[in-house]
Amino acid sequence: LRLRATWLDLQQRLSVLTRIMEENLGGIRVVRAFAAQDHELSKFEEASKNALELAHQRVGIRVVNTSAMTFSFFAAMGLVLWVGGGKVMSGEITVGTLASFLTFMTILQMPVRQLGLMVNAFARASTCGTRLFELLDLEIAVRDAPDARELKVTDGTLRFENVSFAYPSAPMQEVLHDVSFEARRGETIGIVGPPGSGKSTLAHLIPRFYDATGGKITIDGQDIRKATLQSLRRSVAVVQQDSFLFTTTIENNIAYGDPWAKEGRIERASESAQLHNYVLGLPTGYGTVVGERGVSLSGGQRQRLSIARALMLKPAVMVFDDSTAAIDAATEQRIRSAMRRYAADRVTIIVAHRLSSLMHADKILFIEDGRVVEKGTHDELLALGGRYKALYDLQVRPGDDALSA
Ligand SMILES: Nc1ncnc2c1ncn2[C@@H]1O[C@H](COP(=O)(O)OP(=O)(O)OP(=O)(O)O)[C@@H](O)[C@H]1O
Ligand SMILES: [Mg+2]
Repeated sequence: LRLRATWLDLQQRLSVLTRIMEENLGGIRVVRAFAAQDHELSKFEEASKNALELAHQRVGIRVVNTSAMTFSFFAAMGLVLWVGGGKVMSGEITVGTLASFLTFMTILQMPVRQLGLMVNAFARASTCGTRLFELLDLEIAVRDAPDARELKVTDGTLRFENVSFAYPSAPMQEVLHDVSFEARRGETIGIVGPPGSGKSTLAHLIPRFYDATGGKITIDGQDIRKATLQSLRRSVAVVQQDSFLFTTTIENNIAYGDPWAKEGRIERASESAQLHNYVLGLPTGYGTVVGERGVSLSGGQRQRLSIARALMLKPAVMVFDDSTAAIDAATEQRIRSAMRRYAADRVTIIVAHRLSSLMHADKILFIEDGRVVEKGTHDELLALGGRYKALYDLQVRPGDDALSA
C-alpha cells in the first residue's frame, strides 16, 4: 500500500515533468521563436528535482517489497512441500506430480513479476522514442555561428536575395528557388499560392527555423545567419498556422516572450488581437487556465491569443502564417485594422489563402512551386491578368463577401 501511494505520487510528479517536456517539444517552435529556452529549462530542472527525490524513496520501498515477494514465494513453496509431502507419503499423489507442480510454480513466478515492469517500460520507451526523434529532427537544423553577433535592428528592412532552400531531410529537392524581395519598415508583404508551394517554408526561414541553402536573408543589411538566434528571434515574431498554448493562464500565455510585462500591455495586445472581450467574459478573466489541462479555446481564439503573444514582442518583423484561417472574415477585418497601428513601425508578412487577408498589402508575391511567379500590388496583379487574377476571380467577386479558398 505504501508502495502504491508513493508510486502514484511519483507518477504524478513525473507527469508534471512529462507535461513540461511535452509542451516544450510540442511548442518548441514557440519556445524557440520567443527565445525562452532558459525559462523553460529552469522550470524543467525544478520538476526533475522533485521527481528524483521521490524516485529515491520509491527504490527503497521496492527493495523491501521485492524481498517480501521473494520471502512469500519461498513460504508458499514450503507450504506446498509440507502439504504435498504428506500426500505423497499417504499415496494420494506421486512424487512426480509434486515435482512438476513445484517446477511450474517456479517458472510461473518470473513472468508474473516481470510482466508489470515490461508493460510499463514498453509504453514509456515507445512514446519517448517518437518524441525524441521529433525533437532531434528540429534541434540540429540551426545553430549559432561561432562568430555570431547580436542583431542590431535600426531601420528594419528585410531582404531576401536569391534565396533557395531544400529541407535537410530531402537535400536534392529544392522547395524554394531564387526568391528575392525587399520589405521596408511599415510595409506589408502578402504571400499567396497553391498548397505546398513553399509559403510556410519561406516564412520559417526568417526566424531561422531552417537556414537558406542558397542566397541570403538580411535584416538591415546583416545576414541573419551571422546573428545570434536569441537576438534574431526577439526581432522576428511568427504566428503559426497551428498556434500552441501552454497549460497556464491566458495572461502568462500572452506574456510568454516577456514574463515581466505590465498588465496594461497585455490587455492592449489582447485588444488588438480582438481577444479582450472574450477574456473579460470568462469568470476568471486573464487568470483562466488554458491549454491541455485547462479551458479549451476554439481555433480562432487560439490564433488570436498567439497574435497577442506575438504583438508583445514588438518585433521588427512580424510573420503571420495563415494565422487568420480559423477566424471569420469580419473578425479578421477588425484585427487587421487594429494591427495597422502596429504595422507602422515594422515589416509585416502575411501568408494567406484568403485574398481579402492580403489584398491591401503593399506588395504581393504569388508563389508557385517555390518560385515567385508574380509580384506587385493588388491592382497591378489584377491588371496583369495572370495567376493572381484567376484566383481573385475564383474567390472574390465585386460586391461579394470574401470566401476562403
Ligand atoms: N519539414 C519538412 N521536411 C521536408 N519537406 C517539407 C517539410 N515541410 C514542408 N515540406 C515540403 O515543402 C514543400 C512546401 O511546403 P510548405 O509547407 O512550405 O507549403 P505551403 O505553401 O505553406 O502550403 P500550405 O498552403 O498548404 O500551407 C511541400 O512540398 C512540402 O511537402
Ligand atoms: Mg503553409
